[in-house]
Amino acid sequence: MEEERIISAVEQKSDRTWDLTLRPQALGDYIGQNQVKENLNIVLSAAKQRQESLDHVLLFGPPGLGKTTLAYIIAKEMGVGIKVTSGPAITKAGDLAAIITNLQAGDILFIDEIHRLNKTIEEILYPAMEDYALDIILGKGPSAQILRLDLPKFTLIGATTRYNLISSPLRDRFGVTFRLDFYNEDEIADIVKRSANILGVNIEKEAREEIARRSRATPRIANRILKRVRDYAQVKADGNVSHSLAKQAMEMMAIDQYGLDDLDRRLLKVIAENFSGGPVGLGTLAAAVQEEAGTIEEIFEPYLMQLGFLARTNKGRVATDKTYEYLGIAKKNNQNSRLF
Ligand code: ADE
Repeated sequence: MEEERIISAVEQKSDRTWDLTLRPQALGDYIGQNQVKENLNIVLSAAKQRQESLDHVLLFGPPGLGKTTLAYIIAKEMGVGIKVTSGPAITKAGDLAAIITNLQAGDILFIDEIHRLNKTIEEILYPAMEDYALDIILGKGPSAQILRLDLPKFTLIGATTRYNLISSPLRDRFGVTFRLDFYNEDEIADIVKRSANILGVNIEKEAREEIARRSRATPRIANRILKRVRDYAQVKADGNVSHSLAKQAMEMMAIDQYGLDDLDRRLLKVIAENFSGGPVGLGTLAAAVQEEAGTIEEIFEPYLMQLGFLARTNKGRVATDKTYEYLGIAKKNNQNSRLF
């Protein structure tokens, strides 16, 4: 389901070629995440001055905010190579060994979704990160031997949407950790402006702002919507994106003024109506809306919470006054007021 939602923050196949042209290449072109950029600048400059490889970096935050983009920028700024892989793609120790032994000193290994690495692989990473050594076990049983391979001084950049799923031994081995947050509307509008420029799309300021309002504070979604709005403008008008045309296009895609779609509304409605506003446990909610608990937690909830349309309590998920206002339904009683 997440594959098809236009407002999904999860990467879709069609985003890839798109990303190549729109992705900023230098830190100076990267809009937003100012605190991360400032800190990163210092870390990068210091490593460059000392002519050392960069400390291992952990990036975390909701999907679509630019973790992979930052990893590429870091490689470019350091003038080093980068190999990109992901937690679930590394299934065997040999997969990891093959990648790491092929790195040059200073190169970056980017592991996306690092929380999904299996335990055995994770344990191979510890000495690799700490001592730049790879322990390979040869043979089995009492005659097994450990062969220690020296590795180049590489930099691991790990990215995750689930910081709390990273084990503390792994967490501790990163020298720097950056948290990416949702963007504000001005920043997203600037990103839309930059992308429209690159694509040669003529777009009104108000149209950029309208897209920014409906993009769930997420650049990946903003760029995806821009692309669809551009198609709409080309087919239905003269290719220019006016404010009213952008609104029309997004209404046709069923994206409302908050960037929410039918699936978000269904989730909120179920909490408000079927569970009297909550608290409802994640598992129960997931079963009721037939989504995976992880998807709800990772994709739906961060932005709904940011809007104040949903709250997480230790007893479960609850609807807020804003939820009822948004859905246009009356709150039946004060069932969850005691929780606040
Ligand atoms: N495209 C996607 N994310 C971006 C960002 N943070 N800055 C500029 N362009 C982007």
